[in-house]
Amino acid sequence: MKAQQIENKIDSIISILTLEEKVAMCHAQSKFSTPGVERLGIPEVWMSDGPHGVRGEINWDDWGYAKWTNDSITAFPALTCLAATFNPKLSKEYGINLGEEARYRKKDILLGPGVNIYRTPLNGRNFEYLGEDPFLASKMVIPYIQGVQQNGVAACVKHFALNNQELWRDHINVEISDRALYEIYLPAFKAAVKEGNVWSIMGAYNQFRGQHTTHNSMLMNTILKKNWAFDGVVISDWGSTHNTKEAVLNGLDIEMGTGTDGLTTSTKNAYDSYYLANPFLEMLKSGEIEEEVLNDKVRRILRLMFRTNMMPNRPFGRMNNQEHLDVARKIAGEGIVLLKNNNSFFPIDPSKKMTIAVIGENATKSMTVGGGSSELKAKTEISPLTGLKDRFTNATISHAMGYASGPSAYGKVIPSTFDAEKLKLEAIEIAKKADVVLFFGGLNKNHLQDCEGGDRQSFSLPFGQDNLLTEILKVNNNVGVVLISGNAVEMPWISNVNAIMQTWYLGSEAGNAIADVISGDVNPSGKLPFSFPKKLTDNAAHSFGKLSYPGDSINQYYKDDILVGYRWHDTKKIAPLFAFGEGLSYTTFEIKNVKSDKKTYAPSDKIIVSGLLLNTGNVDGAEVVQVYIGKSKSKVSRALKELKGFQKEFLKKASSTTFEIFINANDLAFYDETIADWNLEKGEYVIYIGNSSNNISAKIKIEIN
Ligand code: BGC
Repeated sequence: MKAQQIENKIDSIISILTLEEKVAMCHAQSKFSTPGVERLGIPEVWMSDGPHGVRGEINWDDWGYAKWTNDSITAFPALTCLAATFNPKLSKEYGINLGEEARYRKKDILLGPGVNIYRTPLNGRNFEYLGEDPFLASKMVIPYIQGVQQNGVAACVKHFALNNQELWRDHINVEISDRALYEIYLPAFKAAVKEGNVWSIMGAYNQFRGQHTTHNSMLMNTILKKNWAFDGVVISDWGSTHNTKEAVLNGLDIEMGTGTDGLTTSTKNAYDSYYLANPFLEMLKSGEIEEEVLNDKVRRILRLMFRTNMMPNRPFGRMNNQEHLDVARKIAGEGIVLLKNNNSFFPIDPSKKMTIAVIGENATKSMTVGGGSSELKAKTEISPLTGLKDRFTNATISHAMGYASGPSAYGKVIPSTFDAEKLKLEAIEIAKKADVVLFFGGLNKNHLQDCEGGDRQSFSLPFGQDNLLTEILKVNNNVGVVLISGNAVEMPWISNVNAIMQTWYLGSEAGNAIADVISGDVNPSGKLPFSFPKKLTDNAAHSFGKLSYPGDSINQYYKDDILVGYRWHDTKKIAPLFAFGEGLSYTTFEIKNVKSDKKTYAPSDKIIVSGLLLNTGNVDGAEVVQVYIGKSKSKVSRALKELKGFQKEFLKKASSTTFEIFINANDLAFYDETIADWNLEKGEYVIYIGNSSNNISAKIKIEIN
């Protein structure tokens, strides 16, 4: 059916629905579904988390798992890993494959991807997002959405907006300049809506300028629905709705998860008491709210349904097939970031006979379990230890846990019952006898680590890992650290270890993907999607004190403004430990002959930056050419440079390729608060081309006129 025919059909359906039927469609009937209209054969809408795989089936009316036997799935790598690939093609594959699983599981809306900007390394949910840079997040989110939606499953981009910390997330009020809002925190949402054509969006828990974001008039009415012409459905976060009239008038279409355990705590159907249920119906009946306001919501919901569960020829999806595992492994391998590699510590030759001590709880701990709503019931999850044992069959692999964290639990920390001293001594013993020590540490999916509902309480490694590493280094100086986390961590031992690899949460194929990179089967090409500061106060949000992060529990002020991540490190000349865009390879690359196609551009022009990329080493590999642009003389203070283009190129050893990166001149505009619009300043700009934000190999000056 053509778009106009669908709109006509929707109108004809609306004309025969009763007020009660329409209101019912605007709120939950269970934890993850909304009702259909039985007498007309209009189906229910089923949703699922999101964003790294399709979550296990949840009970109708409480948060327990339903214990189905057909809901084990493929766990894909966390979105930080996807961002680290700097490869939008992989994001498309991610979306397609994940969407197929969602479809097979009979889901109509997949609750993801998340695009909240990485502002502080303490945010417990950074692992679910696409890093600190609005341009990178925008480029990566579009194909993910398109991939999911081509299965007839709606993506639901979340959490709109400014949900950049978990602490006090349900009430903290964010105060921020318009400029930082438009330049840093909104672009990925805008790209999701305008270029990804996302069919649904989730409001957030927090407040913005004194109003809850889920029914915030500026965010939902003005920006999303009016300026961006969003034609899809606004869904609340689970329990983020607080007021009927505000929700009704400020853009909320479907209310989910409002604080109730449903039927278990009520004799009546508790869902009838939702803000968008009976209270809404009463306002309609009394004439306080016009019926057209309701019709607009139902029109959006039906439109989503014609795109999903009412779409003719909807594909059927598939699940747990080999291709899904292969894609998960490929993305995991491409997202792993090699941060340090003294004396070519990595790769480790699998044909060698040697003793490898694998130390650390993260070598065996499940990382698909825990973390909050992104938790998965993975059909398989290969641990790093298993992956290494399968690949390094000539080596003797010894293993010690070294430290322990306790099991993951939502909203609480359950301490480990292991004897920490004993674990440490066991680790030191095997380290003494090994040729190589691989330390598998980092964070995990426990409460107050990389987990929803709380923030990390310290920037350093938890569970005594720093001390353990120091002790290990006293008995063996051939140590490589494999960090598993979704966040930056402090590294006081950095100069004493030979190598550091950042491996994220990688899902079903975690151990295989890690073994692929450690063995050299895969040459690492991941790049950091966020900066690693040396110390917490070197991070912009933290450098402004408590009111900036985490706030005083009522308000917080984003005093870091537009200077988030590398923008701050660059502009304030505070060197990070590892920079945005940084990541090593087993080969070496050179960027040469860089030029722009012209010297002077008009606002409507495309700037073409081209050059030659050479693989100068003796291994095949991939490099990400990154283009940043800055403006020195400006009427406002600017970041030294901002990412405006990137391209990943795969190159055989000793070969070269030309690259061409296209940038819209208009994308150099800043958000001008004096005119409440984007403003492309005329004059000189500097283009920086490199393979990391802190490794620039060429600079070019251009003019905009
Ligand atoms: C999370 C959302 C999630 C929802 C449903 C909320 O607590 O913030 O990201 O989709 O729960 O599980």
